[in-house]
Amino acid sequence: MYEGLARSAPVSYLEAADSTNTRLKAMARKGAEHGSVLIAGSQSEGRGRLGRSFISPEGGLYLSMLLRPDMPPEKAARLGCAAALAVCAALEDCGVQGACIKWPNDLLLCGKKLCGILCEAGHSSSGSFFVVLGIGVNVSTVDFPPELRDIAGSVYSLTGLRLEPEQLGRALIEQLDRICAAWGRDGEAFIDEYRRRCISPGKPVFVSHSGKKAMALSIEDDYALRLRYEGGIEDSVSFGEIFHME
Ligand code: BTN
Repeated sequence: MYEGLARSAPVSYLEAADSTNTRLKAMARKGAEHGSVLIAGSQSEGRGRLGRSFISPEGGLYLSMLLRPDMPPEKAARLGCAAALAVCAALEDCGVQGACIKWPNDLLLCGKKLCGILCEAGHSSSGSFFVVLGIGVNVSTVDFPPELRDIAGSVYSLTGLRLEPEQLGRALIEQLDRICAAWGRDGEAFIDEYRRRCISPGKPVFVSHSGKKAMALSIEDDYALRLRYEGGIEDSVSFGEIFHME
């Protein structure tokens, strides 16, 4: 299904899996190679950020990629931003324009969440550090559960475009390979593109971990989000979740 890609690391496909991230992490601990990709046609236990589940019916793209990056572990979470850029570029390669990033790495289209990214780190039994980038894109879903109907959408439900998950998957693997190879330790080569694609600056936001409202000001050079709280105090957040209030 994913034959013929110009890369040496393997791409494996399962019609159904519990979670591609869970499986690829287990493979990573046993020594799977840098760049290995695992894709599932559906997931029964898809996992999202902050312990949430990720609804993963057939018709979506559920892809995990293993990286063994040469960087300190504290910089690895930023690879989620690399993945977000790769998804934007892959969507464009498939004719889907207008996807943008909600800091740090959710993708929105027409104001609805189209894609979520879960970046997890671990150590192999040999002690070597690894990262698994897990990417879930709603491609053709139309039936979202009631609690997601107002906030989530798919390529098909939002644009009417019929795209095969495999077509997007191939484009995404190529974009991930390109961006991850050039990312380095800090991703400085991509910060301008990230700033262009991230729509959070300029919006009033709710900051989940502090429970406070703030104005999102800008993206720092290390991809942190600069905020101004009520009363004028400014601070930067490196991790966590925000909600756009407008
Ligand atoms: C989020 O929006 O909170 C992140 C969702 C990440 C979902 C993807 S689907 C492929 C990979 N496998 C998982 O179990 N989760 C990620």
